[in-house]
Amino acid sequence: MARERPIKALTEAEAAAELERLEQEISRADRAYHQLDAPEISDAAYDALKRRNAEVEAQFPHLRRADSPSARVGATPAEGFGKIRHSVRMLSLANAFEPDEVQEFDTRIRKYLGLGADAQLACTAEPKIDGVSLALLYRDGALVHAATRGDGETGEDVTANARTIADVPQQLRGAPAVLEVRGEVYMRHDDFQALNARGADIGGRTFANPRNAAAGSLRQLDPSITRARPLSFFAYGWGTLSEPLADTQMGSIERLAALGFRTNPLTRICDGTEALLAHYREIEMQRPTLGYDIDGVVYKVNDLALQARLGFRSTTPRWAIAHKFAAETAWTRLEAIDIQVGRTGALSPVARLAPINVGGVLVSNATLHNEDYIQGRDSRGQLIREGRDIRVGDWVQIYRAGDVIPKIADVDLSRRPEGSVPYAFPETCPECGSPAVREPGDSARRCTGGLICPAQAVERLRHFVSRNAFDIEGLGARQIEAFFNDDQLPIRTPGDIFTLEARDTDNLTKLKNRSGWGETSARNLFRAIDERRRIPLHRLLFALGIRHVGETAATLLAQHFGSWAAFEGCVTGPEAEAMAELTNINGVGPVMARSLIDAFTNSAERAAIDALAAHLDIQDAEAAQVENSPITGLTLVFTGTLTRMTRAEAKARAEGLGAKVAGSVSAKTDILVAGEGAGSKATKAEALGVRVMDEDGWLELIGA
Ligand code: IVH
Repeated sequence: MARERPIKALTEAEAAAELERLEQEISRADRAYHQLDAPEISDAAYDALKRRNAEVEAQFPHLRRADSPSARVGATPAEGFGKIRHSVRMLSLANAFEPDEVQEFDTRIRKYLGLGADAQLACTAEPKIDGVSLALLYRDGALVHAATRGDGETGEDVTANARTIADVPQQLRGAPAVLEVRGEVYMRHDDFQALNARGADIGGRTFANPRNAAAGSLRQLDPSITRARPLSFFAYGWGTLSEPLADTQMGSIERLAALGFRTNPLTRICDGTEALLAHYREIEMQRPTLGYDIDGVVYKVNDLALQARLGFRSTTPRWAIAHKFAAETAWTRLEAIDIQVGRTGALSPVARLAPINVGGVLVSNATLHNEDYIQGRDSRGQLIREGRDIRVGDWVQIYRAGDVIPKIADVDLSRRPEGSVPYAFPETCPECGSPAVREPGDSARRCTGGLICPAQAVERLRHFVSRNAFDIEGLGARQIEAFFNDDQLPIRTPGDIFTLEARDTDNLTKLKNRSGWGETSARNLFRAIDERRRIPLHRLLFALGIRHVGETAATLLAQHFGSWAAFEGCVTGPEAEAMAELTNINGVGPVMARSLIDAFTNSAERAAIDALAAHLDIQDAEAAQVENSPITGLTLVFTGTLTRMTRAEAKARAEGLGAKVAGSVSAKTDILVAGEGAGSKATKAEALGVRVMDEDGWLELIGA
């Protein structure tokens, strides 16, 4: 590579040209390797090209190409693909690990539907395939597009890649006019081994497990590479349909099989928990000889009318659950314990391990949770591991289940090195030196530095720009850190992002003075920031990074309040009323409610939120599909015994139609639904002039 120039000496135009040349050379080498099985260049030369590409990209991140070769192994960046909005959201599944939790699933459903313990409640049980989900849309029998799950609302357009999978039919006969088939793309063990063997022969490009290989192959920007990677597909569900496939889950799966899809042969109908658990054991026994990875068994209510009644929580259906297999374990040496400071100030101990293969994945880090866990106690002070503490130098047992962060399960005292000492958990923040304190009832020790702690501030900003939050193109985790440390044009709080352009008035000199930024990239960044000034309420609530408020909770809050003004009015209003309203939301408990109220009571935090909100156009929560419901925006109270649906179902239905459900009658109540035996609430409602209706009136009102 005689013509290589030092990267620092490259102008922006030269760097762009260099990235283009590297992309072409690497693509050519890839094609020779993947399709022709006839590599044209040595492994060392190939590696040098990839390294040079990565170095130029690191220096000029904004010039990184959509088809960058650095994205070709493993996960490809989403920017390279077109986007497809799912007309029916692609959700995930709640998990069960123990038989008791399967029993609870059954009980919960019966309770919700008002079914007795003896009533029949059939479910299907089928393997949970360890791959990546894919949605295939057919119109008049022809495959129109294929999308990954993405964030559940919008996925990546991988149509060209899906067309290369033999199990994905291009044309169907006798299908509904609109049919979206959902299922899992996976790689069989034999195909995986052959692929890795080829990789190892040629350049050491191998995947850690079949799931990564399947994901990496499906999300390839070059479909000819996907074609060279043997992928398989099982259909297990559907999205948009112009007409139902059948009236049961099993019937629908059989219909998909008749249309030409591969469906899993171990799918059975089981009546009751015992039958589900028996089939789980059967599948677990067959697991080693299936020839592909599965990580559990999925149970789904068979009757689709019941599925419809059960509906969804914010991100998972009530009518299904994944019963996961036990985790995989292995022993290794604990080399060090590092402390990371998170966005809520929690000091999290991380175990640095001698790398070890656990069920096919190389693990070198594991979580140690908190100081109690290291000392051998749980959050209630009960002994765990019979009280054995964990020390640097110990032999520890690692376990991992699916994609969950590996954990340390146990320690082998017989191999403890002589002279080892108990781990002393730091009492000051390793990042800013502020005292780190534990409040009663809190399992974490937290840095008290707040916004002066750079780790917390940076983590909060990172979270703020992350994929399911503001997701600003060109402002990723790395750039955030650079801006945080920049004296000329700093970003220290989320609001600073939206004043960046205004603060760089003099023909963008401040940004352009920084390495890697030019006129075009600066303009692109400002455009990307401007695009995010308009933000859906649930994304903003998640992005704020308030303790205990994850994506699910943010969605629940957005659905409940509808608008930022309503939400803010509640959390900044009288505390008792705020507590009552928040905890009445299904899925919001007192701890989260407290945390929300605290965030808006803390003056520094409140000032940062206000400064941010001033720059945003916050979109109301999607009430689109419920805008015309007769109860949109109304506040309902249920009392007495309902006979045709349970209270939980009535509440979920009302909320699904855009209404709020309150626990007690007040002047704000619009409708009281009084079931049998309604007492004082009905009397109070009448006194207040609130509209009162019986159960039939309620069913008629919602058209049930
Ligand atoms: S049903 C509403 N069935 O598991 C969600 N999912 O953890 C319906 N998966 O995203 C999903 N095998 O990618 C279903 N037999 C199966 C499955 C399965 C694997 C995946 C799927 C889903 C994830 C949830």
